Amino acid sequence: MDSSYIQVTPIKQSKIDTVDFNKLDFGRVFSDYMFECDYKNGEWQTPVIKPYGPISLDPSARVFHYGQAVFEGMKAYKDDNDDIFLFRPDENLKRINKSSERLAMPAFPENYFFDGLTKLLHLEKNWIKKGFGNSLYIRPFVIATQPAISASPSEDYKFMIILSPAQAYYAGEVRVLFAEKYSRSANGGVGFAKAAGNYAAQFFPTSLAHKKGYQQIIWTDANTHEYLEEAGTMNIFFRIGDKLITAPNNDRILDGITRKSIIQLAKDNGIEIEVRPVSVAEIKDAARKGELKEIFGTGTAAVINPIVGFGHSEEDFELPKLEKSYASFFKEKLMNIQYNKSQDPYGWRVKI
Ligand code: COI
Repeated sequence: MDSSYIQVTPIKQSKIDTVDFNKLDFGRVFSDYMFECDYKNGEWQTPVIKPYGPISLDPSARVFHYGQAVFEGMKAYKDDNDDIFLFRPDENLKRINKSSERLAMPAFPENYFFDGLTKLLHLEKNWIKKGFGNSLYIRPFVIATQPAISASPSEDYKFMIILSPAQAYYAGEVRVLFAEKYSRSANGGVGFAKAAGNYAAQFFPTSLAHKKGYQQIIWTDANTHEYLEEAGTMNIFFRIGDKLITAPNNDRILDGITRKSIIQLAKDNGIEIEVRPVSVAEIKDAARKGELKEIFGTGTAAVINPIVGFGHSEEDFELPKLEKSYASFFKEKLMNIQYNKSQDPYGWRVKI
């Protein structure tokens, strides 16, 4: 890899000594450098790496008016030998370009993505801490920068990567509410994309759920609210007896990289897995009969997060506390691969 064409503007002084890496609120602290690449005159310009800091945009930039913005979530991990790894990064590039296509934005070139990311992470290697659960969260994103407010796609864009040291995404127990009124996405919409607006649209209903004591909503299909889809920050798995069930991908559900890794791990570890629509009625029925053993969410930021209980139609259900949960089994398997503690028969782990 020759990334010498990506110029680096050096920082004056690193902020790293001001950061308490044992007490990190997700996404509040950012590393010293960022990656930036502009799209102008129909092509991506030569990218640069520069000190992390504010960017200047015209108030009429289209992103502010029409939300033409997409993003990704990735993590860098360090093993005991100080080697740095990514997890299935090609999937993130594919997905951000799929998201961009849906929002009428240009695809980002593979060489700029990998050269830029690798150079940035090598520069910021001290921000990646060793140890299970420590990582450097990577946030690539694209925004429409053209100063113009007619409702049409921008001609100019900015692709950036910023980095944030991370530990757990959810600090405490996660209890969820099954959606009955609001929807996250609809058929033919942008639910499968990591479009910024998908997240903004969840904030208000989620704040109502918070007031009732739930941390997250599990979104249901917009037509009937009878089928469980995803949690917005996570895909969702249900365990009934010893069987694992998760909703199939469609144009309303994010094609989660952790999700598909768990499906593969389940298949290869003799755990029965069904990828099919999961109904609210089925889950409530299983909970009443004591057959619902687990619900857990999967995502890059959240990794694998057990759900302790759920609510629906003014009824609350608690989940049992298991000694040997699938959630902890998969979390260990996955993290062993990510942190270079086990073999990776899939080629998911990429050393950079
Ligand atoms: C991720 O898991 O990386 C995500 O993008 C979810 C985000 C809301 C933190």
